[in-house]
Amino acid sequence: MTNKFHTIRPVPNALLPQLYIETYGCQMNVNDSEVVVSVMQDAGYSLCQEMDKADVILVNTCSIRDNAEQRILGRLDLFRLQKKKKPALKVGVLGCMAGRLEKELLNHVAVDLVVGTDAYRQLPKLLEAVSQGNKQIETRFNPQENYADISPVRMDTNGVSAFVSITRGCNNACAYCVVPFVRGQERSRDPQSIEREVIELVANGYKEVCLLGQNVDSYLWADSHDPTKYLNFAQLLELVALIDPKLRVRFLTSHPKDMSSGVLYTMAMYPNICNHIHLPVQSGSNQILKKMNRKYTREEYLERIKTIREILPDCAVSGDFIAGFCDETPQDHANTLSLMNQVKFDQAFMFQYSERPGTKAAKMYQDNVPEEVKTQRLNEIIALQNQISLESNRRDIGKTFEVLIEGPSKRSPLEYFGRSPQNKVCVFPKENSKVGDYVQVTIHNCSSATLIGAITEDLPAAGLGSRIRSHISKLAHPIQP
Ligand code: 5AD
Ligand code: SF4
Repeated sequence: MTNKFHTIRPVPNALLPQLYIETYGCQMNVNDSEVVVSVMQDAGYSLCQEMDKADVILVNTCSIRDNAEQRILGRLDLFRLQKKKKPALKVGVLGCMAGRLEKELLNHVAVDLVVGTDAYRQLPKLLEAVSQGNKQIETRFNPQENYADISPVRMDTNGVSAFVSITRGCNNACAYCVVPFVRGQERSRDPQSIEREVIELVANGYKEVCLLGQNVDSYLWADSHDPTKYLNFAQLLELVALIDPKLRVRFLTSHPKDMSSGVLYTMAMYPNICNHIHLPVQSGSNQILKKMNRKYTREEYLERIKTIREILPDCAVSGDFIAGFCDETPQDHANTLSLMNQVKFDQAFMFQYSERPGTKAAKMYQDNVPEEVKTQRLNEIIALQNQISLESNRRDIGKTFEVLIEGPSKRSPLEYFGRSPQNKVCVFPKENSKVGDYVQVTIHNCSSATLIGAITEDLPAAGLGSRIRSHISKLAHPIQP
C-alpha cells in the first residue's frame, strides 16, 4: 500500500483512454465510484462525461430492490448498442449486482468485465486482460480491503460537501436485506487514514464531510499491536469534529440497536457536528420488527428517540420504512402509521418490500402481501409523511438557521440552495453570498420538502460562529466500547 494522496478532482486529458462511469444506489456506491476513478486515473485513464467518447464504460450497480436491478439491466441493453457503434469499447459491471448476479452478468453480450466491491484495485489489470480478448470476473470478498490509502477523486462535486467511508460491509442480518451478501463482512477503516482524508478535503476547500457506513455505530478500530487501544464511533466523531471547527460533520446510517448515548453527547459537545440522525425504523410493529430481525422493539425505538430529544432538543430525525413485508397485517401497518405519528420524523425514505433472492426472508417467509396492497400501504405512509414533513417545516417558519450554500437552486438562477444543520433544504435569494459560504437564513415559507427564506446576516468566514465552541478534553463523556 502507498500513502500517496492523489489529486482530489478529475484531471481530464483527451489524449488518454477515456473512462465513463455511471453510479446507481446509495452514497456508499457514490464514494466507491470515486475510489474507482482514483484507481483508473492512476492507471492512465481520463474521466469523460459523455458515453459516446468512452473507451471504457463502468456501471456501479445497486441490488437493494428488484426495480433498481431492472433499471440497470435496461442500461446494459443501451451499452450493447454503443458497442455496435464502437467495437473496441469495454463495459464493466461493478458493485452490488456484480456480487449477486456474477455469472448471468458475464454472459450478457454487452459485458466484458464483472468486478465486486472488494476488487476495484484490480480493475486496470482486469481491463488489460479483457484487451487480450477474454471476459474477466473477480467478485471474491476481501475482508481486509477498505481502500484506506486511496484518495477518492471527487466527481460531480459541488466542492463543498464530500462523503468519507468509515466502514465497509455489514454484520447485521436484517431478513430482507441483500447488503451483507453483496458487500461482505463489516470492517472499520483506520482512524489515521480517515483523519488524513478529511484534512485533505479541508485543504481543498471542502466545508462538510459525511461519514459513511451501513451501520456507523458499530465502527470499532483496534490497534493491531495493542488491542487495549481502540476507537469507537463516538470517539471517531470527536476526532473528526476537532480537525476544523469550520467543517460541518454529518454521518449516515445509525442503527437503533447500536446508537450509543456517547454519540449523542459528542454531538451535543461539538457545534460543527450537525443535528441530524438518520435512524431507520422500517416498521412500527413488534411482530414485523422481530421477523425482520432488527433486534429492537417499537418501545426501545421510542426510548431512543426520547433520549435523542432529551440530549439534543433541536436534532432532526429521519427514518426508512418498508411497506408490505412478509405476513404484514392491516394492524401491523396501522402500527407503523401510529409510530410515525408519535415520532414525527422530519424526513423519511419509504419503500415497498421487494424480495431479494438468498436473504433470510426469501428463504424462510412467503412474500405474501399482494403488490396492490403493498402499494396502497406505501402510498398511505408517503401521504402521512408528507403531512408530517409539512408540519415540521411549518414549525420552522420565523426561525433562523445557519445554512451552508451548496449551489444554485433549481427554482431560479437568482437563488441558492443549501442545508440547515437539521439537513433541511433551504432556498433563498443569492444576494452577495457564494457557494461554500455559511449564511444565516430566516424562514418565511415552506413546502413539505423545502424551507424558503432570506439571508438575514452573513456569518464571518469562520462560520458556525453563533455558538461558542469549548475545547472539551477528549473522553469527557461516557463512551461505550
Ligand atoms: N425491499 C424494500 N426496501 C428495502 N430496503 C432494504 N432492503 C429492502 C428490500 N428488500 C430499504 C430499507 C433500508 C433502505 C436503505 O432500503 O428501508 O433502510
Ligand atoms: Fe448501496 Fe445497498 Fe444498493 Fe449496494 S445494494 S448500492 S449497499 S443501497
